[in-house]
Amino acid sequence: MKRRTFTIGGLAAAGTLLLAACGGGRTGTTTDSGDGGGGSGFDADATVGVALPWLGTQNWAEAQDLFTAQLKEAGFTPLVQAADNKVSQQQQQIEAMVQKGAKAIVVGPIDGTQLGSALKSAKDAGIRIIGYDRLIENTDAVDAVVQFGSVRTGELQGQSLLDGLAERKGEGPYNIELFGGGPADPNAPNFFTGAMSVLQPKIDDGTLVVVSGQVDFQQVATQDWDNGKAQSRMDSLLASNYSDKEIHGVLSPNDGIARAIITACKAAGQEVPVVDGLDAETESITSIWNGEQYSTVHKPTKDLVAKTIELITAYQKGEDPEAPTETENNGTIDVPVYALDPVVVTKENAEEVFQDDPDRLALLKG
Ligand code: BGC
Repeated sequence: MKRRTFTIGGLAAAGTLLLAACGGGRTGTTTDSGDGGGGSGFDADATVGVALPWLGTQNWAEAQDLFTAQLKEAGFTPLVQAADNKVSQQQQQIEAMVQKGAKAIVVGPIDGTQLGSALKSAKDAGIRIIGYDRLIENTDAVDAVVQFGSVRTGELQGQSLLDGLAERKGEGPYNIELFGGGPADPNAPNFFTGAMSVLQPKIDDGTLVVVSGQVDFQQVATQDWDNGKAQSRMDSLLASNYSDKEIHGVLSPNDGIARAIITACKAAGQEVPVVDGLDAETESITSIWNGEQYSTVHKPTKDLVAKTIELITAYQKGEDPEAPTETENNGTIDVPVYALDPVVVTKENAEEVFQDDPDRLALLKG
């Protein structure tokens, strides 16, 4: 498996660097000297590339719109593209961004490990590279990653599954099944690790029973985050293990897969189990509000895009950005990570969480 280590260290060092850089940073329109250090900026209207993995879940479609509008608003020339979950397409899109003279490239990798050579050309050209939402692995060609804590996200998912079971299904033991996300996505194993840190002790003490016995990430992962594949797996789990049993809960890595799981359970004549999710997608908020899906984890795209543009603006001015919240080893280097806090949403707190999000709030009123 891929190597990932977290360190909270490095922050003091980063803070010192930040202080050292203050006063030395240029402001305004500058010309890139391509030294890769914090002291060199680039033109204020430079092209900024954004390479998204696909548009198959709402968060990426929102990112596409927000990057296009907000990079423009910040004075940059946006070049926003999405690959259809195809690694070679994403590599070509990044290479084209380098050719077109982008000064910064934001990447949500399809496969965290497959961008080494495309990003090396970018780095050699002095381009700033930011991992967006997902870690970029096994390369030194990455300046920073902006994301919601991925292990933390998983912990919240695991905890809300437990909370939902206690709230909706009475006393345990509870029959459950586990789902993971796309194995190429570096977030997916981290979400699962976080969730299992909460669930494993409850499996060990008999509160949770994984009836199929499938508990390893490789067994439960969903290739390409494909909802259809998740639904087929749920269909077979139900047919093989639950003809004489009720299923009480299912761990789901995101909202699309949560809805696929619920669909399969209904088709098998089961009561809707407790299912968590991720992304606060429109359809899932409605489902939560209607009492079906139990919860989702909200990681507001607008905050992630804003944080990313803040970094790009600092690079443009030749200033070092504020210190990262942590560093994560990507197999080659310790990458500065700017980690935002995700939040669990249930029917109970939905109105409060979406107070400043009129589109999502409207779903609760409709
Ligand atoms: C993102 C999720 C998304 C999933 C599938 C993950 O890397 O963090 O928000 O649902 O990819 O697109």
